Amino acid sequence: MIDGKFAILAIESSCDETAAAVVLEGRDALSNVISSQIDIHKAYGGVVPEIASRHHLDNVNWVCRKALDDAGASMDDIDAIGVTYGPGLVGALLIGLATAKAYALATGKPLIGVHHIHGHICANYIEHKDLEPPFMALVISGGHTNIVEVTDYNELKVLGGTRDDAAGEAYDKVARVLGLGYPGGPLIDRIAKEGNPEAVEFKRVFLEKGSMDFSFSGIKTGVLNYVNSEKQAGREINVADVAASFQQAVLDVVVAKTVEAALSLGKDKIVMAGGVAANSRLRGMMEAECEKHGLGLYTPSPILCTDNAAMIGCAAYYKYKAEGADDLTLDAIPNLPL
Ligand code: KG4
Ligand code: ZN
Repeated sequence: MIDGKFAILAIESSCDETAAAVVLEGRDALSNVISSQIDIHKAYGGVVPEIASRHHLDNVNWVCRKALDDAGASMDDIDAIGVTYGPGLVGALLIGLATAKAYALATGKPLIGVHHIHGHICANYIEHKDLEPPFMALVISGGHTNIVEVTDYNELKVLGGTRDDAAGEAYDKVARVLGLGYPGGPLIDRIAKEGNPEAVEFKRVFLEKGSMDFSFSGIKTGVLNYVNSEKQAGREINVADVAASFQQAVLDVVVAKTVEAALSLGKDKIVMAGGVAANSRLRGMMEAECEKHGLGLYTPSPILCTDNAAMIGCAAYYKYKAEGADDLTLDAIPNLPL
């Protein structure tokens, strides 16, 4: 306990961030330490799983110690250990999970396994102290694009997901085609501000009527074909225009489907989460649509959008209150369903 409040040490290692945090009663992050491997994976244009696992192993111990130090806490003050056990890269997940189990075993404190997507949504409870379910959530990151109906802290129903690439993955691939670098999301976000979103007409993929699923692989090919045909014709490409047009085609669909989901299921607020939720155009468009329809909109600050452990500490708290602890046989599940 810290100041009479239930304290969780949380660990996240599902992709290329090694992160640890101390969170009080699900809402207050006393520390939030993130060791990013982006600079290492940049050279390969994407995350290399084996390299990610090795770096998690190098970093996980000091990241956990720093999370305790930053919170002014010791293990004696901690009441439970929360950890992401899926979905994600199996080798990466195993490092965080093995560390959490070691802490739990050595101290006799409860172990709480957290679903990574549940964590992303919970980032909003840390940012917005007044936020309570129910609401409609859009989880949009490098690995996921999901519309999730949240009826209670632990009651989540996936209404739609991507049938191929995740939105962030499409950003990253298109950025590579445009020669912008990695990770592409923030770079496209920046350069698109100087471009015309109507310069190139890329197809908006809505799928069947009423479907809350997404498909982003077509637009990636669309951008590649456009760039190649312009090159062949000897025309100069306006990178800002292409980036802005690509982004607009993706976000038109994302915003329309999320707002439609909220309205059709009678929700009065939308909550965004995941790395792409940091996108300035998405935030602007969603704000405008929510205002038009009288919906509340909640988004975490950028540091809580991308992978972090504070969000895992929050999800762990609410799961523990409802379901209690997991035992030490808990395994990493790369494609864990929500
Ligand atoms: O949530 P996250 O850190 O990791 C996953 O769970 O995937 O998200 C990373 C993804 C990357 O694809 C990155 O390009 C994208 O989020 N991203 C952005 C922005 N910031 C990060 N995409 C668009 N605009 C941004 N500002
Ligand atoms: Zn994530």
